[in-house]
Amino acid sequence: MRKRLTAWLLAVLLIMGGAIGCAQEDNMGYRSDFSAGTDEWYARSMGDASISVTEEKTLLTVGRTDNWHSPGRDFPLQPGVTYELSVEVRQEQADEARFMISVAHTAGGTESYENLAFGNAKKGEWTALSGTYQAGPYDRFVLYVETSNAPEIDFEFRNFEVKGQMQKQVEAADIPALKDVYKDYFDFGTAVTFMESTNKSLMDFYASQFNIMTPGNEMKPDSLLDVTGSMIKSIKDDTAVAVKFNSVIPLLDYAQKNGVKVHGHTLVWHNQTPDAFFHEHYNTANPLVTREVLLARFDNYVREIMTYLEKKYPGVVVSWDVVNEAIDDQTGWLRESKWYTIVGEDYVARAFEIARKHAPEGVLLFYNDYNTAILGKQNGIYKLVEQLMAEGNIDGYGFQMHHDIKFPSVQQIEASVKRFADTGLLLRVSELDITVPDDSEVSFARQAKMYGDIMKILAQYKDQMLAVQVWGVSDNLSWRASQYPLLFDGESNPKPAFWALVEP
Ligand code: XIL
Repeated sequence: MRKRLTAWLLAVLLIMGGAIGCAQEDNMGYRSDFSAGTDEWYARSMGDASISVTEEKTLLTVGRTDNWHSPGRDFPLQPGVTYELSVEVRQEQADEARFMISVAHTAGGTESYENLAFGNAKKGEWTALSGTYQAGPYDRFVLYVETSNAPEIDFEFRNFEVKGQMQKQVEAADIPALKDVYKDYFDFGTAVTFMESTNKSLMDFYASQFNIMTPGNEMKPDSLLDVTGSMIKSIKDDTAVAVKFNSVIPLLDYAQKNGVKVHGHTLVWHNQTPDAFFHEHYNTANPLVTREVLLARFDNYVREIMTYLEKKYPGVVVSWDVVNEAIDDQTGWLRESKWYTIVGEDYVARAFEIARKHAPEGVLLFYNDYNTAILGKQNGIYKLVEQLMAEGNIDGYGFQMHHDIKFPSVQQIEASVKRFADTGLLLRVSELDITVPDDSEVSFARQAKMYGDIMKILAQYKDQMLAVQVWGVSDNLSWRASQYPLLFDGESNPKPAFWALVEP
């Protein structure tokens, strides 16, 4: 095992490399120079103001009448990468003026703004501003320097710098691949977040291990629903829906290019769904919509999503969680939610009916829930699934399996898998992780044992089990990071749990 670990090489490199080409370029990023002109800086949103390079090689802006009249420049930032930004500014006209470095970013044709670094410049003094920016899911970035309380002053700046932070790159190493270990059993997968999906080397490592991926957040309604766009559409038709895909595109692109399957998560959920979805004209100040409007909105939502995916990424998304976590832990029956309140008891069945109507042929539809091993909850899930089966729109059941080494027991897990397997439905394990109290050898050994025991059970159901997916790869990026639940440590070294899956 030691040998295997040393074979697991980690290389440190700059993800962004020399991608930001410009004046004074090294592979750390950009620094303004102005020795040969304005270096692609331009007067943005400027009214009558203009920019010029001074003899001291600074960039001077004059003739402003608004705070946002500013010099700007396009930077090909990479979504997901964190950048350090700095600049020195000087002004001669006010006792003091407040400056900002801001970004104007564009996604799907819509521009929006963030202020990233701040500083107060006293009259005549060079003043440094610095800050960091983690580039979001946008396709264009303009960085600019503006004021917030001095719309009319002239100012100059020098030493504008943008540096991408060092990131670890994981090299595909000489360890067995889980997707190969289980190739005669089921697909083996993981959850991947937006941040991870924009890191090519990390994704190559993931794809070396996993042949199916679920976006950790990026296909939930709070990512896919375009609330502003929906509001605008609703003026004409309150059942219309606008959707957006910017945060899931990097994963879909990667999956399509590299032959990785994607599982969609999730169309209906009581969490991570904008409240606006449930209100007239998508305005939470308005009353709730009626059952008819909500179902019509959902119909449009699903159609928009399926149509887009089928057109741009045919065959990539192979299955969906149609409804997630509908059963309440305490009552063992449908939990209180806006879906439940507005549509009523049959909202899960209606969601499946609508999903079936729009899902391309062969895309499989799942109901997904947690704590399936706990009997009270299990009974509720079972009853719901039976009702759905009677209507014929459900293909399978997804066990989340967010567990802990102390709870539930492997026997309880086994009994729950057997009970759902007996329904004849397809099965998947959608979000497996097992928490431990600390990162000691003893805890990791117990964790490995439980992973191994669970896999032995799942392997027995290989004829029905389509995929087993962990909910993330490395402990440090887990949603339960403080409890070390995954197969790799924070430096992407395989943990005992990984080896337990290789040889359960
Ligand atoms: C979690 C994500 O991993 C987190 O990043 C997010 O903050 C909250 O949701 N059950 C589910 C998943 O179905 O969608 C949840 O994912 C974890 C629990």
